[in-house]
Amino acid sequence: MELASKDRPLRLGILLSGRGSNFLAIAESIRAGRLKGVEIAVVISNVADAGGISAAKELGLPTAVFVSQGRKRREHDADVIACLQTHRVNLVCLAGYMRLLSPEFIAAFPNRILNIHPALLPAFPGLDAQQQAFDYGVKVAGCTVHFVDEHLDHGAIIAQRTVPVLESDDAHSLAERILVEEHIAYSEAIARVASGEFELRGRRFAKRGL
Ligand code: GAR
Repeated sequence: MELASKDRPLRLGILLSGRGSNFLAIAESIRAGRLKGVEIAVVISNVADAGGISAAKELGLPTAVFVSQGRKRREHDADVIACLQTHRVNLVCLAGYMRLLSPEFIAAFPNRILNIHPALLPAFPGLDAQQQAFDYGVKVAGCTVHFVDEHLDHGAIIAQRTVPVLESDDAHSLAERILVEEHIAYSEAIARVASGEFELRGRRFAKRGL
């Protein structure tokens, strides 16, 4: 998967539905020079008043909103795909994008869509993952950045980070501790993809030549 080169940076399309703290962590990694050869081409939301869109505007980044409520998934996704293509996006990053993608969307960006999930997949896919983990009584929790395939929270894993579950935790404090690691994990995962040093071998995203 050759996505980036010196002359052609990796162009990210960020999709979000809410406050956008993962998007802001990625933007900060780029600004601080920790994520090289990467730029944010556009930030897109399916929710009109998403905080992440205001934050992107403040950073002077291109933004777009395509409200998904009440629209057929395929039709809504067609608008999003067109916008990503207009901005010459070659890596889509779901950052708190609370909407399933249509098969057409996944086919338009094969192995070029990343998602962050606030649990150690394959445990606790789906909604309220931190609450699920807390209620299950796990002693270690964490987050996963993975490629998106046609199944929910299922594609090959790119990066994971862990946190302990403390006796004093509730689901909220656990989620806050996981979020700190999410902000590190997403940039780590993008750097791995951008480096060109990793390849997909079955489900394993592994270093080439090893
Ligand atoms: C994050 O915790 C992310 O892992 C989660 O939504 C939050 C978005 O926060 N995503 C999912 O649960 C996807 N299934 P943010 O808007 O501050 O980045």
